[in-house]
Amino acid sequence: MLRIGVLVSGRGSNLQAIMDGIREGKIEASLELVISDNPQAYALERCKKHGVNFKVIERKSFKTKKDFERAMAQELKERGVELVVLAGFMRILSKEFLNFFPERVINIHPSLIPAFQGLEAQRQAVEFGAKLSGCTVHLVDESVDGGPPIVQAVVPVLPEDTAESLADRILSYEHRILPQTVQWFAERRVKIEGRKVIVEGARYGEVPINPALERF
Ligand code: GRF
Repeated sequence: MLRIGVLVSGRGSNLQAIMDGIREGKIEASLELVISDNPQAYALERCKKHGVNFKVIERKSFKTKKDFERAMAQELKERGVELVVLAGFMRILSKEFLNFFPERVINIHPSLIPAFQGLEAQRQAVEFGAKLSGCTVHLVDESVDGGPPIVQAVVPVLPEDTAESLADRILSYEHRILPQTVQWFAERRVKIEGRKVIVEGARYGEVPINPALERF
């Protein structure tokens, strides 16, 4: 069974989607540890409620970013974590952290990257006047929200949308593509060829917008 760790900073609704997927047997993975850099994160309440192991590791407890990241990596390694999922984790990880888990750190971002990287992606989409936006699960590299996409889901941007209403619409797809991606890793179907990430057996081409959502 794939051993996963999830890093969070806030609300934790994507974490919840993963916990639900595991409980429902749709994700064949074990959630070994949740790390939050924010002691106030609502995600921690979710861990308590569901009996999930968690640790608060705050940046301010360490002199350097390197020490902070080492502490997180060490906790994850101690629990044998193979896949690290960033689910609303609000910090940029350095190459050194990523090297502990080569090609095994993924992130969910609420836009179709490379559009609208960085903060407030949904507001950026509304203010830009985009007609389509969505969400992306991608491999994490040193760029900010710029690593190779694994799966993207598209949603329409409506004329009356606010950043909040668009965020809600996108979020419901985040809760599908992130658990789906974790399951793909659990099934060992994710092949990485440079920037191209291929999910073996996915029905690319059959569905025009939201490819390969098999179970979620
Ligand atoms: C999501 O919109 C995610 O795409 C972004 O941060 C938000 C986290 O939400 N990276 P939650 O904490 O999972 O509810």
